[in-house]
Parts: sequence; C-alpha cells; structure tokens
Amino acid sequence: MAQATFNEEGLYQAIADFSTGWYASADRPARILDLCAATGLCTLRVSERVPVASATLVDCDSRVLDCAARRLAAIAPVETHTGDAVTFSSSVPYDLILANSAYHHIPDHRKIDFLRTACSVVAEDGAILLGEHFLPPYKSKPEFRASVQSFYGQMVDELERRGEEAQAVDVIRRSALYCWLGEYEFKVSWSVFLRHCASARLQVERAQKIWEPYGGHGTGAGTVAVWLRPRGQPVLRC
Ligand SMILES: C[S@@+](CC[C@H](N)C(=O)[O-])C[C@H]1O[C@@H](n2cnc3c(N)ncnc32)[C@H](O)[C@@H]1O
Repeated sequence: MAQATFNEEGLYQAIADFSTGWYASADRPARILDLCAATGLCTLRVSERVPVASATLVDCDSRVLDCAARRLAAIAPVETHTGDAVTFSSSVPYDLILANSAYHHIPDHRKIDFLRTACSVVAEDGAILLGEHFLPPYKSKPEFRASVQSFYGQMVDELERRGEEAQAVDVIRRSALYCWLGEYEFKVSWSVFLRHCASARLQVERAQKIWEPYGGHGTGAGTVAVWLRPRGQPVLRC
C-alpha cells in the first residue's frame, strides 16, 4: 500500500521515463537488474515502456521474489537471487539497474559498497536508476533527528491532505520511527548521497524531484528519481 502513495507512484513513473531515455539512445531490449526488487513492481513499470531482454531480481526475502517471478513471468526470462544486494556480482553486464526505495534500506556504512556493486555490473552505456527520499541537511545527530522529524512530519501531512489510505500513512509513520532510531530505514541527505556516489565513481546524469518538503528547495531534500552513470561514461544522446 505504501508503494501506491503519490510520491512512490511518481518514482515509478520517473524511473520508467528515464528507461525510455536510455532505450531511445541504446535501441536494444534491456537486460534489467532490479536490486532490492521486492515484488518486482519497478521492473514491471519499466517493462511497460521498453522491451526487456531479461530481468534479474535480487532481494533478501525469498517470498517477495516468488511473487515477483510470477508477476513478471510473461514479460521476459526472469532470474531471482535471494541474498544481499550489496554483495551481488555477475559476469554479465546489465543495461538498466533499478534500485527503487533500495539505498535507504542499506545501512550507511554499506551504502558506498551498494553503489559500487551497481557500478561494477552496469553495461558500458547502461543506466543506474534510483528512486529515493532525501532528508533535509544535517550536521550532527541531534540535527539528523530534527531532519527526520521535519521530513516525515511534512510527508505525513501531505499524504493525509491527499487522502491516501490510512494504512499506507501508518506504514510511513512507522518508517519515521525506524529512521529516527536508525533501524531498518537509513535515509540520508542529498549531500551525503552525492558523497557516496563520488566514492563509488558515479555521477548524476539526471534527477527529477517528485515531492519536496517546505524549505527543501536547493537542498535536494524530498522524493527524487536519479539517473546515475559511471564517471567517464560517454554522455548518452537521447
Ligand atoms: C521498499 S522495498 C523495495 C521496493 C521495490 N524496489 C519497488 O520498486 O517496488 C525494500 C526491499 O529491500 C529488501 N532489502 C533490504 N535490504 C536488502 C539487502 N541488503 N539485500 C537485498 N534486499 C534487501 C527488502 O527485503 C525489501 O523487499
């Protein structure tokens, strides 16, 4: 249900739009790798917009992957890997690496390795497409907690204002608590994310803001779809 809220829906749409940008330039069916794929919704949305040669889905929960495999069976050959997305490796490259609502589930000390993993398996002209929520900037633990409170407070207000399902709003409230406690939800600010990208030798090709909290303008805070490419990869023309 939380995946059906306006900003999650915005992320699926933006990632699907980015994938059409990649396809316009590459002109071949995509080999998709979906990291932290859950039930495969992101791959499904991309497959509605670009031809898919294969879909490889990674998640640490085998039950969601079973559901994803059933959901995607008619679309393309599907491979599922139950395990840790951070240590995933492959001898074949992927054209589109999807990581929607994935990076914030990876603990901070493993985030750079997560991005490096994506970088290590992306095709030479491939794209890494993330959907994320970034906190307002902070410089200390107390500021981090204030940032979490401000971000989620405004997000919950926005969800209620739009009349989203009460159960979905409850899930977001629970996420706020997890994030505040530093358990299971490890959201960071846009500037921390950019530092992690630089360490993983990735750069931002495009970013699309879906929603931002009050005062978030210019800070990167909010719900953002991001197209990353390895540093030094030729810029795509599309
Ligand atoms: C919010 S869901 C992802 C949603 C999905 N990408 C989509 O677009 O619909 C987060 C998923 O990350 C998975 N996960 C968390 N940590 C992981 C890890 N280290 N390796 C693989 N999967 C992980 C969880 O099992 C969960 O299914």
